[in-house]
Amino acid sequence: MDDFPDHGAEGGADGDSDDAVAALVLAAGQGTRMRSPLAKVLHPLAGRSLIGHVLALAVELRCAEAVVVLAPGMDTVRAEVDRLRPGTGVALQERPLGTGDAVAAALDRLPVEGTVLVLFGDTPLLTAATVRRLLRARHDAGAAVAVLGMRPPNPAGYGRLRTAEAGDLVDIVEDRHADADLKRDAACNSGVMAIDAARLGELVRAIPLQPEKGEYYLTDIVRSAVRRGWRCVAVEAPWIEGHGVNSQAQLAEAEALWQARRRAALLEEGVTMVAPETVWLAVDCRIAPGVHIAPHVVFGPGVEIEAGAVIHSFCHIEGARVAAEAVVGPFARLRPGTRVGRKARLGNFVETKNAALDDGAKANHLTYLGDCTIGAGANIGAGTITCNYDGFAKYRTSIGEGAFVGSNTALVAPVAVGAGAIVGAGSVLTRDVPPQAVTVARAETKTREEAAAGLRARLQARSRARPETRSDSRREAGKG
Ligand code: UD1
Ligand code: CA
Repeated sequence: MDDFPDHGAEGGADGDSDDAVAALVLAAGQGTRMRSPLAKVLHPLAGRSLIGHVLALAVELRCAEAVVVLAPGMDTVRAEVDRLRPGTGVALQERPLGTGDAVAAALDRLPVEGTVLVLFGDTPLLTAATVRRLLRARHDAGAAVAVLGMRPPNPAGYGRLRTAEAGDLVDIVEDRHADADLKRDAACNSGVMAIDAARLGELVRAIPLQPEKGEYYLTDIVRSAVRRGWRCVAVEAPWIEGHGVNSQAQLAEAEALWQARRRAALLEEGVTMVAPETVWLAVDCRIAPGVHIAPHVVFGPGVEIEAGAVIHSFCHIEGARVAAEAVVGPFARLRPGTRVGRKARLGNFVETKNAALDDGAKANHLTYLGDCTIGAGANIGAGTITCNYDGFAKYRTSIGEGAFVGSNTALVAPVAVGAGAIVGAGSVLTRDVPPQAVTVARAETKTREEAAAGLRARLQARSRARPETRSDSRREAGKG
């Protein structure tokens, strides 16, 4: 999947460089409610793993360091973390004894100055702007803990934030233990917390065991801080940012929320989408203002579309760059390594892979272009196939500027068609075509005048001599 884009934000995580932020990502939960052999945080959202979203946030926030808490045996998650953010610390939580225990497992890897930002590996919709607000609120209040709250339409299962008259946070009460008043009035706990690193150890070590579930709740640090006379504050975020993924249904919901948010941003930036709800985007799609996207288009990872390009309906595009004013589709499939030049055209039922089409090149119908370069203004006829694979290795095709490849041509790679050359329809090309040449590589057409009646008579006589097949041949002739 993707790498992270370069975030060039100014200053440290909270714009206050003397308060370094360490991100602590809790991801040791088993995720049993997903009912999936894939680790929960490796499930993809918009083409990136859930944990990838959280690590990208830490990068965007320019966190001084990041530590991920995993359970023993989570090697696939560890590999994903190493791939996406090499140098990320990993702490192992030996047994799943709750969020408080998960933080305790990472304590000796965390700094004792600055802020520890607790994030959950299963909460992928959080934005940097919101986290910066949370960090600033903790900083400004001199609070031990700042908690991000939210008001989701379905609050079941979330802890509730109990606040005092003055607005300070005094406790977090898990859903099971919350009374009706609290359930009605209080904001929900998103799980995201900014904690004063200097006080974190003392607070975490004081977390009591919750006997009924046999777990240590991180949320209990609030009550314990207040008892010590340390302030705690809450900051409310748009609820979708705290949306947690515990089940496949919540994963699908998270995807829908992410897509809706990204589409709205693209519309705002000046991308035209006739039916935005039918356009699917990946996390790193770069779509310029002035691109026109028709209904029902799917963009995978690694896509860049320049201004003025038109993407017609039912295209599937990944790992492709489409230059300005190019026209793609309907029904085109652009696979990784595709480069479409300015004003180039790829029409219906065209598949490309590792294919670079220069400016103004055209392949309008029913074509496979793999491992090839197509020069500017070249015209590729319907049904053209680059035969790039012999079952063992891939070979390249090159087609020169202004060349014309007739319909239904098979280009048996490695092969080159020179600039300005013309290839006759139906050719099977196994040798290079020189520039400006005309090549026809197909069986010649033979015609015998007035021969049809005689051939029919011979065929009829043959079929009478073999009566067992007569009814079949009559049916084939449409007379049965
Ligand atoms: C938690 C909060 C709840 C909050 C909700 C928001 C607690 C006690 N409850 O509940 O107040 O509203 O998140 O989504 O914190 N994890 C570990 N080790 C463990 C247990 C969990 O690393 O032993 C990790 C999980 O992988 C997950 C995160 O911590 O990323 C949250 O755990 P989860 O079990 O999903 O907590 P909730 O029940 O959702
Ligand atoms: Ca959760």
